[in-house]
Amino acid sequence: MRILITGAAGRLGGRLVDILRPSHDVISPTHNELDITDFPAVRDFIQAHQPDIVLHPAAWTDVDGCAKEPDKAIIINGYGTQNVAIASYEIGAAILYVSSNEVFDGGNNHPYREYDSPNPINPYGYSKYVGERAVLSLNPRHYIVRTSWLFAHGGKNFLQAILNAAELGKPLRVVTDEVANPTYNDDLAIAIAQLIEIGRYGIYHLVNEGAVSRYNFARYVLNHAGYTDIPIQPISSREWVRASRPPVYAELANTAARQIGITLRNWREAVNAFLEREGLDAG
Ligand SMILES: NC(=O)c1ccc[n+]([C@@H]2O[C@H](COP(=O)([O-])OP(=O)(O)OC[C@H]3O[C@@H](n4cnc5c(N)ncnc54)[C@H](OP(=O)(O)O)[C@@H]3O)[C@@H](O)[C@H]2O)c1
Repeated sequence: MRILITGAAGRLGGRLVDILRPSHDVISPTHNELDITDFPAVRDFIQAHQPDIVLHPAAWTDVDGCAKEPDKAIIINGYGTQNVAIASYEIGAAILYVSSNEVFDGGNNHPYREYDSPNPINPYGYSKYVGERAVLSLNPRHYIVRTSWLFAHGGKNFLQAILNAAELGKPLRVVTDEVANPTYNDDLAIAIAQLIEIGRYGIYHLVNEGAVSRYNFARYVLNHAGYTDIPIQPISSREWVRASRPPVYAELANTAARQIGITLRNWREAVNAFLEREGLDAG
């Protein structure tokens, strides 16, 4: 397959490139090489490269930044996605848009399924939802893949931030009442590769199995990285002052993927694999 990946230098984009390049013809523009907010540039680029599918993880992922500049969030995550959806449709290419559990309001008392109604409660979630609607309405050959709490080697993410703080001996305060599925970017990239091989379009939740609070996630990571003696102060999300209000309970169920034989391991096994690769697995 000829596969174009937007935001190819990002945490997920980069991993998708690594996993797909050995068996596919991969075109991997960085943000500098292709700005998704520039419609003529997106159209020209996609027409010039004629991919069979465009994988679209590029986004403004700074959730608090999006809360401070909601219009910018819509321009990148909403209209940027609209540009990719139109340009891929025009050449008959499919699109796979990576979305977020933050399209849900977090008020459920059971895991969200693919066809539950989105109801975003913050500007990042709203901008990702605008992107979903553009994809749904503008390119019928679409996959929408929602995921959550990505962790990856290198770069900025919650797991890495916890490890960095522990290493520096910084005091840790972590919220107990925000719950979701931590997801290893390796596992997500593999699941996306499987999905596009199968070719059944639609909406998919792809997260590591099992949900956990941020506090228990952090405790698990520290215990298994050999920092058992480092205390974490449990706090409520009301005590953690930030620009964005996250959905409180935003667990996703991988219902649609399981039906076609795509499964992701439990988040604990994924964290163990991550720590092992970092040389930090203390058992
Ligand atoms: N991280 C999470 O916990 C999480 C959770 C749920 C869903 N998601 C979704 O998963 C996807 C991948 O996330 P990630 O963590 O891999 O994100 P990431 O590391 O922040 O990567 C996003 C990439 O998009 C690029 N980008 C930003 N604006 C762009 C523009 N206008 N044109 C082209 N490229 C642009 C960024 O480039 P610059 O760095 O140069 O701006 C970056 O390389 C995103 O769609 C995100 O919404 C992420």
